Amino acid sequence: MKKDYEKQIRELCGKMTLEEKVGQLQQCGPSLVGAFEVSFEELLDMMFDGRISKEEFEKLMGTAEQDFHEEDLRAGKVGSYNGIGDAATINRLQKIAVEETRLGIPLLFGYDVIHGFRTVTPIPLAESCAWDQELWERTARVAAEEATAAGVHMTFAPMVDVAKDARWGRISEGAGEDVLLNSAYGVAKVKGFQGEDLAKENSMAACVKHLAAYGAAEAGRDYNRVDLSMQRLWEEYLPPYKACIDAGARAVMPAFNDINGVPCSVNAWLLRDILRRKWGFDGLVVSDSNAIAECVCHGIAEDKKDAARQAILAGIEMDMSSNSYTAHLRELIERGEVAESVLDEAVADVLRIKYELGLFEHPYQTNETREQNTMLKLEYRAVALEAAEKSIVLLKNEDRVLPLKPGTKLGIFGTLAADRGQMTGAWAIGARPEDCISIVDALEANNVHYQYSADGTDLSKIASMSDVLIAAIGETKEESGEAASRADITLKPKDMELVRALCATGKPVVAVLFNGRPLAIPELDQTVPAIVEAWHPGLYAGSAIMHVLYGITNPSGKLTTTFPASAGQCPMYYAHTNTGRPGGKSKFTSKYLDAPVEPLYPFGYGLSYTTYAYENLALEKDEDGLWVRVQVRNTGKRAGEEIVQCYVQMPCAKRVRPVRELKAFTKTALEPGETKQAELKIAYDSLGYYDWEMNWIPYEGNLKVFVGGNVRDTISAEVILGSMSSEMCE
Ligand code: GLC
Repeated sequence: MKKDYEKQIRELCGKMTLEEKVGQLQQCGPSLVGAFEVSFEELLDMMFDGRISKEEFEKLMGTAEQDFHEEDLRAGKVGSYNGIGDAATINRLQKIAVEETRLGIPLLFGYDVIHGFRTVTPIPLAESCAWDQELWERTARVAAEEATAAGVHMTFAPMVDVAKDARWGRISEGAGEDVLLNSAYGVAKVKGFQGEDLAKENSMAACVKHLAAYGAAEAGRDYNRVDLSMQRLWEEYLPPYKACIDAGARAVMPAFNDINGVPCSVNAWLLRDILRRKWGFDGLVVSDSNAIAECVCHGIAEDKKDAARQAILAGIEMDMSSNSYTAHLRELIERGEVAESVLDEAVADVLRIKYELGLFEHPYQTNETREQNTMLKLEYRAVALEAAEKSIVLLKNEDRVLPLKPGTKLGIFGTLAADRGQMTGAWAIGARPEDCISIVDALEANNVHYQYSADGTDLSKIASMSDVLIAAIGETKEESGEAASRADITLKPKDMELVRALCATGKPVVAVLFNGRPLAIPELDQTVPAIVEAWHPGLYAGSAIMHVLYGITNPSGKLTTTFPASAGQCPMYYAHTNTGRPGGKSKFTSKYLDAPVEPLYPFGYGLSYTTYAYENLALEKDEDGLWVRVQVRNTGKRAGEEIVQCYVQMPCAKRVRPVRELKAFTKTALEPGETKQAELKIAYDSLGYYDWEMNWIPYEGNLKVFVGGNVRDTISAEVILGSMSSEMCE
């Protein structure tokens, strides 16, 4: 039961000066772009791009080391920090806030704990391929244990931006292209981060982001415009944020992008009408880094003062790093352009989360001893290894190249096979490369007979001494994440040259992919007999990959994003509409002349070292939903876990519906030859959609249900829902 702090909040607000109120809305970062260290080159680029003035540049140059703004803090002008992740610094700054400011209001420390803090787990896109809510919650719990031990109170996660364009670098940070999976992933993360009681010292507030539809950036180009129909916004992009708020997320971060011309940071419809009034959110809204000020650049604010005015009126309570509030709110209030009641409401939201986190009672929630004793605990490492194993997707395995037999002599090629730092992927700002295990580390530690060449030198010699060759190829973590969109999502020429050279030796070649997005790899698929999608797997990268290669672990991961055959097909996603001329062989159909109609690998796809059969699909209508039952049989010789997926199609509705929509999924473990019944439920209200006038209407009519191990290979059945009226489709 959530405690009520309204009396304390009102009393404290009543004592605060205008300056102190504005101070509570100020979140400082150790650098201009949030948690990142900003290199000199980046600052120069920012000045040339006009993102910072020449004066700001010179001021920044004046303070070479990180600037923690202690003087502003003492003056009551700072309410929160972003990007500080060590107990000593956090306690030092907290001490100033509590003991040296007039009212002693504690600070709120936020940090990007996206996929682990010190025990780095696979990037979210990888972990989403486990389709495992229980695992997602456990990895979030581990992240919270470590991050709170370092003094973090709030994480800027989960990111649940549905992403359907592989060119977008931040597709790595969420649960892929599906709205149901992002919702399930986000809910599990909120529960894991926040635990049962937010006031406990090992719980941290979840800040769900980025509201809204950041993943729909046009052409997959980061920060680009988002232009969506209200129908698609509500059906395909908003549900995951709503699910996280219903799960109790105590903070929200608006997105950098606009929606239909109004940037989220100043979008009162989004932040007040929907978030507050319709969804009933009563937590904290914190801007993205510098996002308020960037509304000038967007072209909706005349200057930073106008941006500050619009943002506070639209409903952003805390200003991350743009200094728009601290510079202009006082004047806006004094000139009556913003009512002080609006400021008081914002301050109340900031104080509320601080009360809920127990910061007034226990401002010092950790110490350096707890910090040192908590990091990298054995049980956390075990979770990281499990998550890495379950995130791996076996994309190809011809001629049973895999699993490798014990004693197989290996030739390992590619820098990514030995580069520990690259295993963390994007947004692992608390990670230390030395903590990570590469493929070479894992082979070394297990006395595997291997030869390694980073760039292919001695290739022939190594190949002659090896039974199987491993090509570790793909993307660096710098090619993934924020500000890392790519127009070309194929492998680098040097990677394909290496692969072709390895294949020319005549030895079997296994490609291990390290990447933060779907890659267009048709040539690789045609060249090698086996492909293991490892993503950026985190701390135990090498161990997990080795376990899969040798069959110690039977891979069970399934793609949560479609793999296109080329960037030209992007955005390519499974829940597309049929059109009047679905892509086919005849000319006048919806397709490209120079690319296949189908993706390279479909959504939900992933191989195993065993095989499964689906039989006896049965549907049963209940009062609140549809029961879907199917028998799944392990038809191979190895035990394995199968992710059973249930899709629907509404072939005739008042607006055209996608050809497939994921409506339920479950995971089932099966021994060789074993058959189990999988039972899934589809709630009727999950089958609603919006008509042209934006009325939410329940689907009535013939419903097609598809069940299988991916969106393409399914068995199906049909059922009639509702009263099939005459004017409905025949
Ligand atoms: C970044 C990201 C956001 C992150 C914030 C703080 O620019 O957009 O996801 O939480 O800054 O580092």
